[in-house]
Amino acid sequence: MSLFIASCYYDKEEELYGTAECSTEGVTFSGNILKIIEDNCYRCHDAANNFGGITIEGYDNLKPYVDSGALIGVIKRENGFSPMPKNEPPLLECDIEKIEVWIMNGALNN
Ligand code: HEC
Repeated sequence: MSLFIASCYYDKEEELYGTAECSTEGVTFSGNILKIIEDNCYRCHDAANNFGGITIEGYDNLKPYVDSGALIGVIKRENGFSPMPKNEPPLLECDIEKIEVWIMNGALNN
C-alpha cells in the first residue's frame, strides 16, 4: 500500500521536473551514481558531517551500505529503515531506478 502511494508521488514529481523519460542505459558509478549520492546525501553523510555515524563518501564508504541492503532500504523507504534523505522528499524515481540498475549490474566502481 505505501509503495503504491509512493509511486504516485514519484509520478507527480517527474511531471513537475519534466523527466518522464528515464534512461538507465550504461549507468556507471562515476557517471551517474556518485552525483546522485553527492547531491542528496553528502550534506549529512560525507566524512566531515557523518550524521548518525554514517559516512558514504566515495565508493569504498558507500559499498558496505549497498551490500547490507541499507542503501536501497533507505531510499525506497522500506520497512525497518529510516527514510532518506531525512525529513525531505524521496529521490526522483529515475534516480532510484539508476541506483537499482547499478546494483543489479554488480555495484561496480566504474
Ligand atoms: C538532512 C540530513 C540527512 C540527509 C540529507 C541524509 N541523511 Fe541519512 N541519516 C541522517 C541521520 C541523522 C541518520 C541517523 C538517524 C536516523 O537513522 O534517522 C541517517 C541514517 C542513515 C542510514 C542508516 C539508516 C538505517 O536505517 O540503518 C543510511 C543508510 C543513510 N542515512 C543513508 C542516506 C542516503 C543514501 C542519503 C541520500 C539519499 C541520506 N542518508 C541523506 C541524516 C541525513
